[in-house]
Amino acid sequence: MSLNPKLRDWHGQRVWLVGAGHGIGAALAQALQQQGAHVALSGRTEAALHAVAAGQERMQVHAMDATVPEDWQRVRDSLLASWGRIDLVVMLAGDYTPLRAWELTPEAAQRMVNVNLLASLYGVAANVPQLMAQQGGGLVLVASVAGWAGMSNGLVYGATKAALNHLAQTLYLDLHPHGVGVYVVNPGFVTTRLTAQNDFAMPALISPQQAADAILRGLARGEFDIHFPKRFTRALKLAAHLPYRLYFWLAHKVTGL
Ligand SMILES: NC(=O)c1ccc[n+]([C@@H]2O[C@H](COP(=O)([O-])OP(=O)(O)OC[C@H]3O[C@@H](n4cnc5c(N)ncnc54)[C@H](OP(=O)(O)O)[C@@H]3O)[C@@H](O)[C@H]2O)c1
Repeated sequence: MSLNPKLRDWHGQRVWLVGAGHGIGAALAQALQQQGAHVALSGRTEAALHAVAAGQERMQVHAMDATVPEDWQRVRDSLLASWGRIDLVVMLAGDYTPLRAWELTPEAAQRMVNVNLLASLYGVAANVPQLMAQQGGGLVLVASVAGWAGMSNGLVYGATKAALNHLAQTLYLDLHPHGVGVYVVNPGFVTTRLTAQNDFAMPALISPQQAADAILRGLARGEFDIHFPKRFTRALKLAAHLPYRLYFWLAHKVTGL
């Protein structure tokens, strides 16, 4: 039995994507629109959102900064005024700077914690009361396999993504009994401007369109933990459960760091 409602028919569904101007969010917006959903696109760069929405039906643009709680409230109210309800909120806003332990600065820590973790908490706070009142709909947190186990370069980023997986579990326990779905997405490597900063060969690299398709497949199956590509994520899940002595050895060997 699936842990969440199986989201298969997108016709007429109202989906709010935060972090939709580029990368995975932009590809997901297009895939959802093609399947009949009404899609609201949010992000900081209005021009990027309009570029995604150009020539598409059933798409609307709402620029916002996800690290500002009032922006969540403003856009939520505007969407409720035009749609009447919100069926799914997908929180993709994210930032990544590869960092080793000796490169950490308070500014980098604050920036990544703000956008990767705090912004999702603000999104939860802004949307849960409405989803509970509707007795339906769902929240999608976009974490990362970098949150499954410590990895060099993933300082701060990995910690925020581990926290998102934890947050999703707790939200599920609270919200599932109220009929609200909670989904956590854990992608491997996807070709976007975030991974363009990596200077190593990324295993099992996929395109944003492939990532969007994998997310839709996971939602259609009602999965709680939507991870992909499986050829990479299954091996990583196994490695993350090894005894630490073995895991640390393997992590050094595989990354060369
Ligand atoms: N690419 C990967 O391999 C990979 C792997 C695992 C997880 N992820 C996660 O997937 C999500 C999408 O990342 P991506 O790879 O598609 O990167 P991306 O192309 O850089 O997309 C990130 C999106 O977040 C938006 N954003 C950033 N800060 C924001 C803020 N403060 N408020 C509102 N929107 C904000 C960006 O738009 P603006 O800059 O215009 O605001 C952009 O549309 C992230 O959470 C990332 O951590 C990515």
